[in-house]
Amino acid sequence: MSGEQATAAEPPKQEEDKKPQDETKLEDEQQQQQQAATAAAAATPAQEEASYRALLLSGYGGYDKVKLHTKKGAPAPKAGELLLRVKACGLNFADLMARQGLYDRLPSPPVTPGMECSGVVEAVGEGVSERQVGDKVIAMNKFGMWQELVVVPVGHTFLMPDGMSFEEAAALPVNYVTAYMMLFDFGNLRPNQSVLVHMAAGGVGIAATQLCQTVQNVTVFGTSSSSKHEVIKQNGVTHAIDYRTMDYVDEIRKISPKGVDVVLDPLGGSDTSKAFNLLKPMGKLVTYGAANLLTGQKKNIMALAKTWWNQFSINAIQLMHSNKAVCGYHLGCLDGEMELIGTVMKTLLELYKQGKVKPKVDSVWPFEQVGDAMRQMQERKNVGKVLLVPEVKKEEN
Ligand SMILES: NC(=O)c1ccc[n+]([C@@H]2O[C@H](COP(=O)([O-])OP(=O)(O)OC[C@H]3O[C@@H](n4cnc5c(N)ncnc54)[C@H](OP(=O)(O)O)[C@@H]3O)[C@@H](O)[C@H]2O)c1
Repeated sequence: MSGEQATAAEPPKQEEDKKPQDETKLEDEQQQQQQAATAAAAATPAQEEASYRALLLSGYGGYDKVKLHTKKGAPAPKAGELLLRVKACGLNFADLMARQGLYDRLPSPPVTPGMECSGVVEAVGEGVSERQVGDKVIAMNKFGMWQELVVVPVGHTFLMPDGMSFEEAAALPVNYVTAYMMLFDFGNLRPNQSVLVHMAAGGVGIAATQLCQTVQNVTVFGTSSSSKHEVIKQNGVTHAIDYRTMDYVDEIRKISPKGVDVVLDPLGGSDTSKAFNLLKPMGKLVTYGAANLLTGQKKNIMALAKTWWNQFSINAIQLMHSNKAVCGYHLGCLDGEMELIGTVMKTLLELYKQGKVKPKVDSVWPFEQVGDAMRQMQERKNVGKVLLVPEVKKEEN
């Protein structure tokens, strides 16, 4: 249509031929610009009206740094990509750290955070044959998932099994992939062994405890606030320890004087050294977080200094003499390894279908209440996963 209009607007060929070549070129360019402007003006009503809601981190600091914004336009998938209508998104501990400027995998603000979501395929890009419009999927990305519409590479998505809710789907990827790779790829967990799971009532903690149950006779020591002990025991923790009022090392030694086979360490600082010392010979420590850095809403320089000062350190000779393994795990640094993550997701979705794992949702918050959602996690109130949804919150039952 616009091509026809352009042709009709062209000056008669005879006159054009008489002009110098440069002048003709300039006129052509001016004409093209004019036509483009006319076309843009014609496209405005439909395209500029299109908008979608997105959460945006505007700078580093407290809860008020993440706000709801309206983005203009309609995102479209390119070759190999999908456009998803987001149904639920996961909030991760790393998002709390990112808000304080303590997580370097997120680009500088302004930026839309969010590493995982569930949703429905709304459009497919060229060359995509493995997904169709209407498919329900789980998606993972380095950031950018906390919005109503997202465009992701098809390889970052996984079909949701029948019967899985959008909330469960958004709660699964980061927590379960992390727990699975730590326990089985690094930890080599085997029957009759023991594991220390810190933050056992949190997203990764619940996932790790459930995955321990897939191996015969594994003893799980789980730390959490005492109010959460009933739930973590129901989830499979053998010995629940209130780390806030007790020395968890002493408590574990009372039950198992030799220590444990695997420690998952999300705390950092002096807790990493405690973890290493708690290992039995041939034990494995997987360090995967620095929760000790977070003491409140805003960055705490004292906590940073203390955690750095108490950083665990060992040399190769000491390591050899100790007969222990130290591993570091960071899912955010595996973003170029989607094939590897895909194989783990396949196993996890199979375990979900068999009823062996089931994400526990703590609470669901609309985008507008993102500050409250972050507070829920930061003030240690959550038991399981905290989720964000684009829709307005349903009434509590
Ligand atoms: N490396 C990776 O790839 C990777 C991936 C995912 C998560 N992680 C790490 O795994 C840990 C758990 O993450 P998550 O997303 O599942 O969160 P989460 O466990 O749900 O985090 C919240 C819970 O952690 C406990 N907690 C302990 N220290 C805390 C502190 N300083 N501030 C606030 N809460 C604290 C609180 O419960 P109680 O006090 O009652 O126990 C709180 O309810 C984090 O350290 C995170 O960075 C690492």
